[in-house]
Amino acid sequence: MKIYVSEDYKDMSRKAANIVSAHVILNPACVLGLATGSTPIGMYKQLIDWYNKGDLDFSQVKSVNLDEYVGLAPTHDQSYRYFMQTNLFDHVNIDPANTNVPNGLASDPEAECERYNQVIRSMGGIDVQVLGMGHNGHIGFNEPGHAFELETHVVNLTERTIEANARFFASKDEVPKRAITMGIKSIMQARQILVVVSGEDKAEIVKKAFYGPVVPEVPASILQMHANVVLCGDKAPLSKIM
Ligand code: GLP
Repeated sequence: MKIYVSEDYKDMSRKAANIVSAHVILNPACVLGLATGSTPIGMYKQLIDWYNKGDLDFSQVKSVNLDEYVGLAPTHDQSYRYFMQTNLFDHVNIDPANTNVPNGLASDPEAECERYNQVIRSMGGIDVQVLGMGHNGHIGFNEPGHAFELETHVVNLTERTIEANARFFASKDEVPKRAITMGIKSIMQARQILVVVSGEDKAEIVKKAFYGPVVPEVPASILQMHANVVLCGDKAPLSKIM
């Protein structure tokens, strides 16, 4: 694993954006695995900035997102499709047809998972998968205790994740209780994994995930088994491992 320690969130975002843009420059038709959450927002801002300066071209890039809430329309301001549109896609020249987020409104979520697995396969796999990390070590919406060997599947969100995400909704009751997420198996097949972390409240889980035992109780711990992981964080979340 490569670790990049940054002074602050802005610097961390820039480093992470550098890694993603390296893929786009070296392979203009690359497949980006993208993530939501507050952590990668600065990275997306930086990518938009470089696009506006003419340094990046997304016209052939394909993207596949980690997860989506079950029951939220793409136009719902808390859906992950909406997040991606407003934080990246609407601001760069990526072809909308090349962007993929699970369909939260699919009448048959299980069938949607299968369709999504096919989409990932048909793209030839993911070149770099961006990952944030939940406080309980979840990646995407793979919660503690989930089997490592799953591809895209439907999950029931834990109380802790619902609480953590309640800040984005009018009330906790409005947070969807289920989501569609790429599984650990799909994530582990990405050729490179870029983990972004920020804030002191992630320090404990970063230590557990990267230096603790590899167990389903800490989903991100499986990343220790991946041959090409880059961890980008500011000082606070890395304070217990440096
Ligand atoms: C959500 C997302 C995850 C994300 C996590 C952490 O639960 N499904 O993909 O990594 O939140 O979010 P944040 O970066 O806001 O801490």
